[in-house]
Amino acid sequence: MCGIFAYLNYLTPKSRLEVLDLLVTGLKRLEYRGYDSTGVAIDSPDSKNIVMVKRTGKVKVLEDAIKEHFSGGEYSEPVMTHIGIAHTRWATHGVPCERNSHPHRSDEGNGFVVVHNGIITNYNDVKTFLAKRGYEFESDTDTEVFAKLVHHLWKTHPTYSFRELVEQAILQVEGAFAIAVKSKHFPGECVASRRSSPLLVAIKTKSRLATDHIPILYGKDTDSGKPQVLPRSDSTSEFMPEEKEVEYFFASDASAVIEHTNRVIYLEDDDVAAVRDGTLSIHRLKKSLDDPHAREITTLKMEIQQIMKGNYDYFMQKEIFEQPDSVVNTMRGRVRFDGNAIVLGGIKDYIPEIKRCRRLMLIGCGTSYHSAVATRQLLEELTELPVIVELASDFLDRNTPIFRDDVCFFISQSGETADTLMALRYCKQRGALIVGITNTVGSSICRESHCGVHINAGPEIGVASTKAYTSQFISLVMFALVMSEDRLSLQQRRLEILQALSNLADQIRKVLKLDSKVQELAKDLYQHKSLLIMGRGYNFATCLEGALKVKELTYMHSEGIMAGELKHGPLALVDDSMPVLMIVLRDPVYVKCMNALQQVTSRKGCPVIICEEGDEETKAFSSRHLEIPRTVDCLQGILTVIPMQLLSYHIAVLRGCDVDCPRNLAKSVTVE
Ligand code: M6R
Repeated sequence: MCGIFAYLNYLTPKSRLEVLDLLVTGLKRLEYRGYDSTGVAIDSPDSKNIVMVKRTGKVKVLEDAIKEHFSGGEYSEPVMTHIGIAHTRWATHGVPCERNSHPHRSDEGNGFVVVHNGIITNYNDVKTFLAKRGYEFESDTDTEVFAKLVHHLWKTHPTYSFRELVEQAILQVEGAFAIAVKSKHFPGECVASRRSSPLLVAIKTKSRLATDHIPILYGKDTDSGKPQVLPRSDSTSEFMPEEKEVEYFFASDASAVIEHTNRVIYLEDDDVAAVRDGTLSIHRLKKSLDDPHAREITTLKMEIQQIMKGNYDYFMQKEIFEQPDSVVNTMRGRVRFDGNAIVLGGIKDYIPEIKRCRRLMLIGCGTSYHSAVATRQLLEELTELPVIVELASDFLDRNTPIFRDDVCFFISQSGETADTLMALRYCKQRGALIVGITNTVGSSICRESHCGVHINAGPEIGVASTKAYTSQFISLVMFALVMSEDRLSLQQRRLEILQALSNLADQIRKVLKLDSKVQELAKDLYQHKSLLIMGRGYNFATCLEGALKVKELTYMHSEGIMAGELKHGPLALVDDSMPVLMIVLRDPVYVKCMNALQQVTSRKGCPVIICEEGDEETKAFSSRHLEIPRTVDCLQGILTVIPMQLLSYHIAVLRGCDVDCPRNLAKSVTVE
């Protein structure tokens, strides 16, 4: 999805070239989100105008264009205060091209320039309104109407402050957005806001900040005849350090700012953050009863190394190989293997209420949905509750009935997926208990849940989700174990699972050693058009997830097939040339899986088999197999998905695909 990065230096001299460098680096950190064009806006050398450069394609193309465009010495002069805004665009309205790239401008004089993430759903109405007043449009985007609307308001309300203009514009637009606005009429100021799309403000000062929150302000500047931004001397605005120098960053996510500062404020829906005279204020137009009085300044725990590739060729590859550690991080401080106890701090107070619920609903999209499919059976077994698994988009389409005694889990790596977030709000309105399972602290799903589990997998940069899946899986297994703590009849089963969890990291290391064998298999498969992946029981989710990985990374057709359904249709696809992969493990459905294997081989199919170490009987069915260590049935899915991650990765490399940023896809899908 689109990425926003804006940088404001106040009394901290920086040349425009340095600012451009910062903007380009910020965009590079957001590249993983998925995009097709880029752009920046900075002040002209005389500070009277705004200069923009936009390009279709990668940030590198923009970087080269910037080098060409800003070669003059005047751009190396330091400026005390300056605002630069930058953007990566993932096309929604209009094809990827320079004309549609952000920033978008209000008029030929570049009075106001805007970067935007999300969709303004009523942009056609606003466009018609503005067109009637003489505005001409130069792009196909929804964003351009916002820039022109701010300009129109500025013309019609000349006394409004910059922040008020943006606020008034926000009141007119519908949909989801995060925006940052720069104006030549308000030099040194930046205004940003969000509704359903993520945006944070990061603060960099030389000395420690004297406070951990920023008070929220309400009302209009012009009500009192003077702006209500907090003056430095105001005793309530203790958030500023003694010295005046300060730098602010506005970004779609923390990975773009972590190399500069770890102090961030996650904006809430309809917050308007404005910087004026180096002072940040957070405003809301309307006060509601449950509004907090302040926004917290959070200290990020993330390290810069976590978002660097290190010795790996791709982030996805790094993230696959991080799994022995990420699964341990998910369990750290929660699972006590010596006492066989599990504490999930984020939901422990809600466990009695959850135990009384009518049913558990697990809701997510893509890979996150698959983690729900993977753990449903165990949750049913250990909670003895009905467990319903839903795709967020379909759930919303159906207006699904939800009751006050439902417990709804929202699973999302990013915590920002629009469909999942909308489903969460739908269930919350109907009185259900909302449990968030996310990887991103401070994300919308985190904040809007009643309680939750942070999966602690560490930043996941590759668009294809890998380590987040295994950590979501483990988080849900831990939840099942917590729910069954006092069930005597389940103690033996719980011990078996806990024992398996304690061996998991070593077993994952062992599976990762299959890498070169998987690479050889990829050489056999990468020129084919299709790959069918079959399994059942605890491994059906691996089939779905494996097929999703193959599709998104390699652009090959792939299907995850429930082996029990084979004879009801998919068997017709099988012949001696159709690539098939089958998961056949020694678990309660082994005999049924063997039947499916026989059905495939007797149609001349020659499947690749994922089986248990030393299972000669199963291996005898094919010359191509991957052996994985034995574990308890309900955790097999963690070990079987890793060869699928590696296989899709190697096929993608062999096919020359962009592994970390597959075409047409975004890491965090913040539009419905
Ligand atoms: O951030 P989320 O977990 O909510 O994202 C949901 C899906 O968009 C995501 O899992 C997607 O399917 C992955 N890119 C697949 O690898």
